[in-house]
Amino acid sequence: MEFDLTQTDALLSTTRAVRKRLDFDREVPDDVLLECLRLAVQAPTGSNRQGWRWMVIRDAAKKEALAEIYRQAGGEYLSNAAKEAESGTQTARVMDSANFLAQNMAKVPVMVIPLIVGRPEESPGNGAGLFGSIIPAMWSFQLALRSRGLGSCLTTLHLQKEAEAAELLGIPPHLTQVGLLPVAYTKGTDFKPAKRPPVEEITYLDTYKNPIR
Ligand SMILES: Cc1cc2nc3c(=O)[nH]c(=O)nc-3n(C[C@H](O)[C@H](O)[C@H](O)COP(=O)(O)O)c2cc1C
Repeated sequence: MEFDLTQTDALLSTTRAVRKRLDFDREVPDDVLLECLRLAVQAPTGSNRQGWRWMVIRDAAKKEALAEIYRQAGGEYLSNAAKEAESGTQTARVMDSANFLAQNMAKVPVMVIPLIVGRPEESPGNGAGLFGSIIPAMWSFQLALRSRGLGSCLTTLHLQKEAEAAELLGIPPHLTQVGLLPVAYTKGTDFKPAKRPPVEEITYLDTYKNPIR
């Protein structure tokens, strides 16, 4: 099988955290969501446990309640974000965007909360096995959305109040919430690669003392 690298590289390099360009007015059909989730669960899981679960939230009252939990949980971070947003730096743009999402979260047509069977406090090691068994699937989900003209933003702020969200959604205690993804069609699809450090500066050969180049 040969891939069109122009296409696959574009998908991998332009799938951004979308907040201000989420289209709140366009419905997202279940079929599209399910198609993206079907691709997402092709992602790897530790010991092939396949403990992913997905909570889809469309109910307006529940979306509003989750948005409120998100804002409350993000309190200090979000108020710092508002201050930082005035500084004009690259981070400032992210903060401004993060604040916009916090204020408008409930307007998204659909929210998706990825869940994994298990609890970090009961998982051996440093949590990599547990979270590593859902985060690849979450990213695949975001890639699948992007390739269909939709967008999302991985958020984690509400997890500081995970129990409140669990109660609202009837999520049993043996499951861990791993984020909240606002999902919508995007306004336009022309996203760009982000500025990142040269990989040569963050890659080492054989010993951490030895930069690869
Ligand atoms: C683990 C993780 C947690 C994040 N949590 C939030 C969040 O709570 N709220 C938010 O608006 N963005 C959140 N983001 C999105 C980042 O701010 C975003 O990915 C980053 O600014 C880089 O932007 P890009 O993804 O468009 O390259 C999170 C991203 C990651 C990977």
